[in-house]
Amino acid sequence: MYFQQGIHKFIGRNYLCLVKTEIGQDIQQAISLLKRGEIVGIPTETVYGLAADATNEDAVLKIFEAKGRPTSNPLILHFASIDSIFPYVAEFPDALLKLASHYCPGPITFILPKSSLVPSLITAGQETVAVRVPEHEMTLALLRSIDFPIAAPSANRYGGISPTTASHVQRELNERIPYILDGGACQTGLESTIVGLADGKVIVYRLGGISTESLSETLGYTPEVKNELHHGIRTSGMVKYHYATETPLFFMSSNQTEFLDTDGVILFSQEKRHSFPTESFILSETGDMNEAAKNLYAALHEMDQRKCSRIFIEEFPNLGLGKTMNDRLKRATAKFQS
Ligand code: TXA
Ligand code: MG
Repeated sequence: MYFQQGIHKFIGRNYLCLVKTEIGQDIQQAISLLKRGEIVGIPTETVYGLAADATNEDAVLKIFEAKGRPTSNPLILHFASIDSIFPYVAEFPDALLKLASHYCPGPITFILPKSSLVPSLITAGQETVAVRVPEHEMTLALLRSIDFPIAAPSANRYGGISPTTASHVQRELNERIPYILDGGACQTGLESTIVGLADGKVIVYRLGGISTESLSETLGYTPEVKNELHHGIRTSGMVKYHYATETPLFFMSSNQTEFLDTDGVILFSQEKRHSFPTESFILSETGDMNEAAKNLYAALHEMDQRKCSRIFIEEFPNLGLGKTMNDRLKRATAKFQS
């Protein structure tokens, strides 16, 4: 069992050793835990990550155990700069490097051929590795102080909603991790956009915090989105559902008027507020897509806490980050379709 102190408890199929989970802003403490092979919650601009020293396989295994995530699902490596990525990849094609210099640090992840420095546990045995440079001052400061990359999936239990605050992480992983570095609420609020290259063209494998419209403008052409098979193998797009609440979640139909008092309603903007007798959560008073994205996961976490009988959410306009949010909600609502 991997924690030195604490009570051993049988959770799911595994014995987990429970520890006290601290929340703080002590970057040095996070660094020393990571150096000792422990796992730590870290803030990024997208969502909170569950970090481990990517070169320490025992530490990386703790990520999978704490999340309850199968090791067949590969992890993203996080770096302080584009330059620090080079030793870990066999190649960084110009087309992707151009995007990296435009967007990094920022919510974009690159799928590249890996170098021998990347353990196969990180890549689930594949020859490619996912890399990114997150845009968060605390995490960048942490990354600059260590000489290894950090492996970090989103800091939620497998299949759940990604956390966008330190207290979301605590709710998901309390007593499973020793420390959460509190960097406030995530600015983007949606996971990174994952891109790769096929036949010289950029492909989007996961819609994310950078819109396809923005990518099109930077590239000079519209990249193909292949987020259903998600690189063809064993990734989040392949599982039956993902990003899901505990409470049954449904898209609201445009003419829906029947609601129970116990239902929770999440609206994109003020526009339809008058139609709802029950208390509703407005993602952006002014209908701003970036603000809605920043608030989306917090709204889902909160509705789950309120123990509503059902949650209804308005579909977003299918453009910009609205496409990413609709994608996440499709995967989440799939859990509740019979
Ligand atoms: O914004 C983000 O990307 C956040 C923050 C913490 O950085 N991380 C994140 O990690 O969303 P995770 O593990 O929850 O999602 C990463 C996705 C998974 O669907 C995984 O299958 C895919 O990236 N992935 C990782 N390595 C891959 C690879 N070599 N080829 C294809 N997909 C890969
Ligand atoms: Mg995730």
